[in-house]
Amino acid sequence: MHPITLIPGDGIGPEVASNVVRIIEASGVDIQWETHYAGAQALEKFGETLPQELLDSILRNKVALKGPITTPIGKGFTSVNVGLRKTLDLYANLRPVRALPNVPCRYPELDLIVVRENTESLYAGLEHIVVPGVVESLKIITEKASTRIARFAFEHAKRESRKKVTAVHKANIMKLSDGLFLDCFRKVSEDYPEIIADDKIIDNACMQLVMRPEQFDIMLLENLYGDIVSDLCAGLVGGLGLVPGANIGERGAVFEAVHGSAPDIAGQGIANPTALLQSGILMLRYIGEREAADRVENAMLAVFAEGKVRTRDVGGTAKTAEFADAIIHKMI
Ligand code: NAI
Repeated sequence: MHPITLIPGDGIGPEVASNVVRIIEASGVDIQWETHYAGAQALEKFGETLPQELLDSILRNKVALKGPITTPIGKGFTSVNVGLRKTLDLYANLRPVRALPNVPCRYPELDLIVVRENTESLYAGLEHIVVPGVVESLKIITEKASTRIARFAFEHAKRESRKKVTAVHKANIMKLSDGLFLDCFRKVSEDYPEIIADDKIIDNACMQLVMRPEQFDIMLLENLYGDIVSDLCAGLVGGLGLVPGANIGERGAVFEAVHGSAPDIAGQGIANPTALLQSGILMLRYIGEREAADRVENAMLAVFAEGKVRTRDVGGTAKTAEFADAIIHKMI
């Protein structure tokens, strides 16, 4: 039996999470879910957005499955997602980007992986008002964080039999910060002579992604670039409803979709649960339940291949629960 922390999140989070839990349980894997709240829901109930009970649960179980959590824009509490990654030092963000059968998209053959550093750079949100009308935002890049994320990327390449890791940066302009990130990448790459290591400046990399994305295998980026480029990559294969993610560190791992709480469609039961489901499949592999992961993945792929039951975002009319039922039906 695997004890796993479940954070349903808000917006479309609870709708997709409950259906993903149903699908995972139908695979026969023995999981005991510990449900916890975060963000605005937790603030209302416990007076804090990231309750200690939740952190303790993840530290104890070492694994969590998480729905999206809304972050107020420009004011209000700081991001719970960033807080979780920082507090648990989940330094590596892994986002496999793969097209699925029968999903309308620009690159049906695409299969690449984005590895994003998760703890520093401008995304850490270290900003302050210098004088009224002038704001300073700090971009911190360290040798330690850059080296460990580069090592993570090459180790992942080795594990997944990938051939190339491309570091993406702006070291021509940010010579010190991105320069350090790139230096660390090059140093680590020397330990992996069997894997091709190259690099691209981020503006060019974005254009190449739109024109010839198949040239990339694993992309390695610092935090802010990784955030933006991984959404771009999701768009190449059909959108945010599909792409999974994992935040991994020494103290635990939190599996979550790339998308947010989608307030525009929340509460309607029409969200696509595939992104969180694919995160769940990554999670099953991470905890050693490879057979269960394969069962869920094969059932999901079979439903996509038939193309009859699809949610609205990928050209169908099915509700979240109907799509989940179709996958469960394939496993019985
Ligand atoms: P979003 O990802 O929530 O939505 C962008 C667009 O994609 C919307 O049109 C939405 O309907 C669609 N979409 C997203 N997921 C979908 C799904 N599963 N099925 C069908 N359509 C889907 O991005 P947005 O609107 O920028 O952010 C909303 C909130 O979510 C913000 O408060 C943001 O901070 C938060 N957020 C949380 C994340 C997390 O918890 N890891 C990640 C990204 C954003």
